[in-house]
Amino acid sequence: MNTSYKILGTGSYLPELTVDNEMYAKIIDTSDEWITSRTGIARRHLCDGETTWEIAVKAASIALSDAGISPESINMIIVTTITPDYTTPNMATIIQAEMGAEKAFCFDLNAACTGFIQAFDVAMQYIMNRDTPFTALIVAAESLSKLVDFSDRRTCVLFGDGAGAVVLSNREANGDRIVSGRVYESFFGADGTGGGYMTGKAFEAASHPFRSTDKPHREDRFDHETGIFLSMKGQEVYRFATTAMPMAIETVLENAGIALDEIDYVVPHQANDRILQAAAKRIGLDPEKMLSNIAETGNTSSASIPICLDQEIRSGRIRRGQNLILTGFGGGLTYGACACVY
Ligand code: ACO
Repeated sequence: MNTSYKILGTGSYLPELTVDNEMYAKIIDTSDEWITSRTGIARRHLCDGETTWEIAVKAASIALSDAGISPESINMIIVTTITPDYTTPNMATIIQAEMGAEKAFCFDLNAACTGFIQAFDVAMQYIMNRDTPFTALIVAAESLSKLVDFSDRRTCVLFGDGAGAVVLSNREANGDRIVSGRVYESFFGADGTGGGYMTGKAFEAASHPFRSTDKPHREDRFDHETGIFLSMKGQEVYRFATTAMPMAIETVLENAGIALDEIDYVVPHQANDRILQAAAKRIGLDPEKMLSNIAETGNTSSASIPICLDQEIRSGRIRRGQNLILTGFGGGLTYGACACVY
């Protein structure tokens, strides 16, 4: 579909504390060689006293300043996270208050690592269907360090903290209507039967004063045995990812009516370099076009795509007018892709 929209600005923030593989090798039975060869991760950034909303505000402020618009012109804020600071208020209203974006309505969206592209798509549906000015701020922020067990070598080395943000609009920063002719298409899927491959527990079942004592406690839906910590079946997720991501890319290309060689870059969810290279090989994509910053960030769940996008725009690799595919997969299981123009 050719339509009117523009990524007006991007921003990202990584906490200062950087933890390399050698530092993990001092606290658990692992090695730089194992982590690098299996995942491509060399280091990741971890919050050191910062909250998820604080890193979200940092990324959002950078995106807003990059977009060159004032907070009052934001109509909608969506925050994606699996590591919010509160169950209520939602993260988006905290960001609204901190930024002074008083006209924005706000909600959070949880689709694990697919969250950012789902939020991007929701925002696009508003933007494409409005004649009046509409501007969305999408912020993906994760503090996975509060969700991982640092004594579990199978998971703790994989994840990092960080935030990324994008300002999307149907108007230029000066208020002019964006001219039509930009490709946008999306494709999303889910497979709830794979929910147990990646679980994080929210609450224990209620034990209120009126609860019957003779009724058995319902068994955990997923046999989640790691308390508040994340649990992952790595090989199952790997198999899913190397199938779902190529399928999502091929489907969105077909829906958009564009060929793979018209795509300048794929900005994928950063979970494992081997997954990215396997996906590129499967669809016949030049591996150089599959962007990766995982060596420096680890897996930051929903934040990984906008962080990578922002870094590659700032490095000058991604330029205005280029065709991009944003693609992700994650817990749920969820997956999808968006074809868009920067
Ligand atoms: N250091 C050293 N050894 C380790 C480590 C570690 N950090 N982690 C696991 N091992 C060991 C295991 O204990 C096992 O040892 P054993 O044979 O003695 O039992 C051995 O290494 C092999 O373990 P596997 O789990 O089979 O290793 P695999 O090659 O599958 O790699 C990995 C594991 C990297 C997790 C891989 O399966 C993977 O990347 N899966 C996808 C994960 C993913 O994408 N997750 C996120 C998706 S959703 C989201 O992003 C929120």
